[in-house]
Amino acid sequence: MQALTQQLTTLAGEAFVQSGYDPQYGEVTVSNRPDLGQFQCNGALPAAKVYGRNPRDIAQQIADQLQAQPIFKEITIAGPGFINLTLTDEFLAGFVQQMADDERLGVPPVVQPRRVLVDYGGANVAKPMHVGHLRAGIIGESIRRLFDYMGDDVTGDVHLGDWGTQMGQVIVELQRRLPDLPYFDASYTGPYPAESPITLADLEEIYPAASAQAKENPAFAEAARLATAELQNGRAGYRALWQHFHDVSVAGLKEDYDKLDIHFDLWLGESDVQDHLDDMIARLQAQGLTSESDGALIMEIAEPDDKKPMPPLILRKSDGAVLYGTTDLATIDMRVQEFGSELILYVVDHRQRQHFEQVFRAAYKSGIAPATTGLEHNYFGTMNGKDGKPFKTREGGTMKLKDLIVLVIAAALARMAESHVAEGYDEAERQEIARMVGLAALKYADLMNQRTKDYVFDLDRFSSFEGRTGPYLLYTAVRARSILHKASAQGLAPGPFLPPTADAERTVMLLLTGLPDALQQAYDTRMPNHLADYAYALANEFNRFYNACHILREENAAVQASWLALTQLFRRVMELVLHLLGIEIPERM
Ligand code: ARG
Repeated sequence: MQALTQQLTTLAGEAFVQSGYDPQYGEVTVSNRPDLGQFQCNGALPAAKVYGRNPRDIAQQIADQLQAQPIFKEITIAGPGFINLTLTDEFLAGFVQQMADDERLGVPPVVQPRRVLVDYGGANVAKPMHVGHLRAGIIGESIRRLFDYMGDDVTGDVHLGDWGTQMGQVIVELQRRLPDLPYFDASYTGPYPAESPITLADLEEIYPAASAQAKENPAFAEAARLATAELQNGRAGYRALWQHFHDVSVAGLKEDYDKLDIHFDLWLGESDVQDHLDDMIARLQAQGLTSESDGALIMEIAEPDDKKPMPPLILRKSDGAVLYGTTDLATIDMRVQEFGSELILYVVDHRQRQHFEQVFRAAYKSGIAPATTGLEHNYFGTMNGKDGKPFKTREGGTMKLKDLIVLVIAAALARMAESHVAEGYDEAERQEIARMVGLAALKYADLMNQRTKDYVFDLDRFSSFEGRTGPYLLYTAVRARSILHKASAQGLAPGPFLPPTADAERTVMLLLTGLPDALQQAYDTRMPNHLADYAYALANEFNRFYNACHILREENAAVQASWLALTQLFRRVMELVLHLLGIEIPERM
């Protein structure tokens, strides 16, 4: 099924052709002046320039052609030559019926599915997840779900940070605390204990201590640097210890991501390319792309017309250790070679723009990424506190993700009590609803912003059941289901769509036809805020319809059945859009 705007564009394009113009001027969009018409076509203006004619005359020719189409109730020309189009109510109802009859709700899948890899999450082994990782998870999850729905062959990879200096720091700090562990004895030949010497809680305490030491104490930093190089080089005790850090961290991370309903197909990390690194570097050397600088091996990626300085990518430090950029480059190699990735989307914060620019340039320059492979950094801004600075705990520290989730759920519970939501339900159900409401508040507040912008975390505002919030959307979606349940309890079922009679009903129908456009826009720009905007507009109009049309009290059975069908379609669309935002809807509330 084709989107309605697409169908109208085809019709208008044909009208342009019949009048002797190029069809490209026929683009039809939803009207930004709904008082003048439902849709608009502005093509007469640019066409007038090209064909040297009066735009109003061209608009009139097109309007005359389109009058022949029985689907239009009204065609008018406004201003210098804008064509306003309004559909007949019969056509609108018929179109919405087709959407309801379609499993995909009228959303056409992409014509040419691609192998897409979404790199998001980006949590680090041994380091606690911070707010930046929250956005990476929330936005990335939404992009992955959207690409999947549009029909691409999508894989989500968490790309763990597990090969960097934090590993050396934790090794050295642990050695300082427990020097007798066999992992530190270079002459020990194993086997190493199967049980981890530390728990997740230990690790969460050791890493900050180690990282502080590394900043203050040059000898510690030097030892950590050496340990990192030795680990990467294959020192057996360090590798065995690393495996414990990895396993303990990943178990904790999985729990956190599960709580957030964020899922990855792959739990690969920087370390997974360790066996490819030598080969990749040798190839780059053979291509003549590398040079030495202060004992380090680098790759120049600057171009003559660069407007800003572009530092080279450091492939290998003088101590032999590889860096973040090296593993990212090798990861592209692996994704292209092993997974056949045609498009790789990196949902990572904006502070890493230069990093990705360097890596992408190196990938294209060396042919690691063929020119046809898309590499995109879909960056995002910072989540700030009310003071406009990056969000911190009240004490000024970074808040752990776990603690943030607890906070958000508590806020949801308080709001629910205040708004008499889920009143009288048993405690387990109330808790489950609070979890969904809290996460909806958190995720919607994030996703409704254009991802490239910073936003202020304001839990009070986000958790309200009124206004542009996740809880408001859930409430409206649950309301639709509750109407359908009540109706079915009374033996009433949705029936065929009738032409709308009420204004609010017509508006809901029109908005429903915009679903494919909202998805397409979010897909093309990798910006879930288009979905978030759409969900809010739709929920508002549905509530207006609900207040204007008393569905369960309606006496005309056919009208009532049509309204129930509209309620059901609204519910399905809302379920889809919220799903694409990563938001779950409670059964009732
Ligand atoms: N681990 C990184 C960090 O915490 C994010 C990883 C993003 N993905 C990538 N391929 N570099 O900043």
